[in-house]
Amino acid sequence: MTQTKKSPKKFVVANWKMHGSLKQNQSLLDAYIKALSNLKHTQIVVCAPYPYLAQLQSMLGSTDIAWGAQNMAKNEIGPFTGEVSAEMLRDFGCEYVILGHSERATAYCESDENIAQKFMTAKKHGLTPILCVGETLIEREAGVMEMVVSKQLDTIIKLYGAEAFADAIISYEPIWAIGTGLAATPDQAKAMHKFIHNKIAALNVEAENRLKILYGGSVNPQNAVQLFEVENIDGGLVGKCSLDAQNFENICFAADSIH
Ligand code: PGA
Repeated sequence: MTQTKKSPKKFVVANWKMHGSLKQNQSLLDAYIKALSNLKHTQIVVCAPYPYLAQLQSMLGSTDIAWGAQNMAKNEIGPFTGEVSAEMLRDFGCEYVILGHSERATAYCESDENIAQKFMTAKKHGLTPILCVGETLIEREAGVMEMVVSKQLDTIIKLYGAEAFADAIISYEPIWAIGTGLAATPDQAKAMHKFIHNKIAALNVEAENRLKILYGGSVNPQNAVQLFEVENIDGGLVGKCSLDAQNFENICFAADSIH
């Protein structure tokens, strides 16, 4: 397997959610591989449903595109019917795992403690966690978005210290922007990314230096450059537009053009 590019300038992560089939994935991945093999400054990561990880491993194994899962068990092994462990993800070549996505946190009642434990289990097994944080529309309108995100980070800080964020990825995903076509403005994203960086830096500068923060929520080819140009936005987590090869490629080219 080709190793993930060292310290790429930007990351673009495809979050396929519960979409795909062997056949559809094959043509989508073929298109990704053809268009994205010459990116110089951007690490592409594809996060697919569990059953397709073997397909990612066989199709992406000899490319620069990395892959990962969209969830993982907090436990390492044992009688946890239906769960998938970090080591199982490693078996299929995963380097990344999305954790705490709001679609899971709300539908499956994932607590911040649960997500924090998954975060540390992922790190322990050599996976890079992509931790999703973000506020609802009501919370934004009430002006408490920083408090909400702060609390989501505090659970990890309290249990494992701010150093846990070294070499991790946070994805700021305002819940009101996910799948709605209404992305955060560059200014809104900039303010939250700055807030997160400052919060971690106040506790551990080294960890803050080694932390990447992506933006997610209705990233598309039209808004990608504006968002990715913002200081402290290290790339994007892309849902809907990652299912269309042309849209995804254009988002990746936008990221790669900024350096
Ligand atoms: P979206 O999803 O790009 O479809 O808004 C982003 C995400 O949920 O990760």
